Amino acid sequence: MEGIKFNQIGVSFKGSGSYVPEQILTNQKISQKVDTSDEWIKSRTGISERRISSPEDNVTEMGYKAAQTAIEMANWDLKTIDLIVLATSTPHDLFGSAPSIQAKLGANNAVAFDLTAACSGFLFALITASQFLRGRSFKRAIVIGADQLSSFVDWNDRRSCILFGDGAGALAIEATSEYDNLLGFDMRTDGDRGSFLNLQSKNDKNSIIDNIDFLRGGFSSIQMNGQEVYKFAVREVPIILEKLFKKTNYSSDKVDWLVLHQANQRILDSVGDRLKIPREKILSNLEKYGNTSAATIPLMMDEAIKNNRIKQNDIIATSGFGAGLSWGAALIKWG
Ligand code: ACO
Repeated sequence: MEGIKFNQIGVSFKGSGSYVPEQILTNQKISQKVDTSDEWIKSRTGISERRISSPEDNVTEMGYKAAQTAIEMANWDLKTIDLIVLATSTPHDLFGSAPSIQAKLGANNAVAFDLTAACSGFLFALITASQFLRGRSFKRAIVIGADQLSSFVDWNDRRSCILFGDGAGALAIEATSEYDNLLGFDMRTDGDRGSFLNLQSKNDKNSIIDNIDFLRGGFSSIQMNGQEVYKFAVREVPIILEKLFKKTNYSSDKVDWLVLHQANQRILDSVGDRLKIPREKILSNLEKYGNTSAATIPLMMDEAIKNNRIKQNDIIATSGFGAGLSWGAALIKWG
């Protein structure tokens, strides 16, 4: 597309940011709590440690800090931001945390709302925001992925507690009439398989008065069928990416970076192998952060942009997948 005058509105990528809490929970420390070992966790998942939010580090704080860095990189006047979309499953306020982020930033002209799609959340939010830009409704948007799953993990369940950590990442995107660097995307949901991964409300039955019952708000812990989620990811992610390559006339050998939701190193390697994308093009930082849900993709991208791995005009194939079950993919040209 480059060089060709583009009569539609496209998306350009202007900035990235991220934030992780300071508290580090290593595999050794987890093994003091549940019957596991550093060796087991590392060999099955690739994870060595994860970050855990302190009481001061909620999704609003983390998302705000990630957004602020992305805005600094984009060099935007805060008043010019039209839209803030926060992907999260763990808002600080169930009515939505994005408005608090808008207020903390001082981005007074932006409309701000939350979007929930678990580990696919960031990708779904990026695509949603992009449609507002392409549709000429808004010019500048901040897309944030932030989650604090440590609050919802069952810290006595060794099958799931080893996987998750907290963090946030953000991208700044802008409408342009010159080109479209969101080269293509696809999104899928299969609610029939939703029971493989849940964070459901508690059935805490109470009565208001006689014969009028209600359920007190509150959530249980993450319930996961790890093997089924694993099978789902290694099957569906290559399929959706293959289809996207076909639709956009790209192929996996034209991809500079594969940025997958950081769930498990074995999933990353398996998807890369199926797509014939060599290991050195598969970005991974889950060793340090584990699975930060909606935050993994922008957290990974920001790290790779800041240490000059992802460069201007690099082609990035990205896919998010997780609870819902939901999954999605996007092909991006950075810049
Ligand atoms: N330490 C030691 N042993 C363990 C641990 C642990 N932390 N966890 C499980 N085991 C044991 C099991 O009890 C089992 O023992 P058994 O054979 O005596 O019963 C054995 O290890 C093997 O268990 P599996 O469940 O078969 O282990 P598997 O190799 O499948 O690895 C894992 C489990 C890491 C959870 C893997 O299935 C996985 O990564 N799945 C994907 C999960 C995921 O990514 N979820 C998030 C999706 S994103 C989102 O939306 C949140």
